[in-house]
Amino acid sequence: MARFLSILPLLAGALAHEHHGTSLFPRAEQLAPPTFGYHGLTGPLNWFNLNQTTNEMCAKGTHQSPIDLSQPFLLASPSSNPQISLSNAPKGAEFINLGTTVEVMGANGTLVKQGKTSNLIQFHFHSPSEHSINGVYYPLEVHFVFQAEDASLSVVGFVIDIGGTSFEPLGALASSLGEIPQRGNETTTKPLDFARLERHFKKHGTYQYSGSLTTPPCSEGVAWTVSAQPLSVDTKAFNAFKGVLKFNARYTQNNPGEVNLLQHIADTL
Ligand SMILES: *[C@@H]1O[C@H](CO)[C@@H](O)[C@H](O)[C@H]1NC(C)=O
Ligand SMILES: *[C@@H]1O[C@H](CO)[C@@H](O)[C@H](O)[C@H]1NC(C)=O
Ligand SMILES: *[C@@H]1O[C@H](CO)[C@@H](O)[C@H](O)[C@H]1NC(C)=O
Ligand SMILES: [Zn+2]
Repeated sequence: MARFLSILPLLAGALAHEHHGTSLFPRAEQLAPPTFGYHGLTGPLNWFNLNQTTNEMCAKGTHQSPIDLSQPFLLASPSSNPQISLSNAPKGAEFINLGTTVEVMGANGTLVKQGKTSNLIQFHFHSPSEHSINGVYYPLEVHFVFQAEDASLSVVGFVIDIGGTSFEPLGALASSLGEIPQRGNETTTKPLDFARLERHFKKHGTYQYSGSLTTPPCSEGVAWTVSAQPLSVDTKAFNAFKGVLKFNARYTQNNPGEVNLLQHIADTL
């Protein structure tokens, strides 16, 4: 069951999937055609120039994401993980192709960190992974985006390898990708079960750092938690994700607190 979303006229402001559905951007703007891409002049090297006002941080921010997760001090033991709770969706959830990613909306969940509760807004995928771990990147990455009442964002990320049987709900989602091949396509997923993913998260350490949206406007102050242990999908599921996502990963940013690479290059040209 797939239906076509009406594509509303392009409204002012950047569409970005990282904060899609959060209070930063109302829904009408979310469905507008993307204002950025991953190649050539719409790609990550030029996001700043797409709108120098809104996207300033993409070229000047010094706490940008993604990064290579290799600094041992960023790695926390499982007991320091935020608590996440993701509700199973026996009737499925909304699954949209935004052109820049595929995204699940309407699923429920919470993240509790240092006494503060954030609610799950959406989760979406990148190929290849945006974060690398000790210099190693992975074929996929999933981002669960949570927002607290004060509007602050937390993102829980998992890199995803190929092999074995697919973690749920990744396998179920992969089987619906054929229904949303193009931007604007929307469907309802099969039942989603998060139990194994939640157990995996609790059991393994996480990299935690303060970074940014990995899409324009590259806003900072995003609390990142990336599981140190990859999830996995089987080859068929990977190929389904790859075929729809194409390439949608921002390049590795400088270490948190260090000069933005674009700023550095501009200053030295
Ligand atoms: C940049 O974004 C702002 C805020 O959405 C908008 O007012 C402005 O017109 C945009 N500038 C360009 C050059 O698109
Ligand atoms: C999330 O919770 C709301 C409110 O209880 C419910 O209407 C909705 O169906 C839930 N979403 C899913 C995907 O189950
Ligand atoms: C996906 O959207 C395109 C238009 O962008 C439409 O032609 C096509 O029928 C849609 N596919 C599905 C499976 O809904
Ligand atoms: Zn993302």
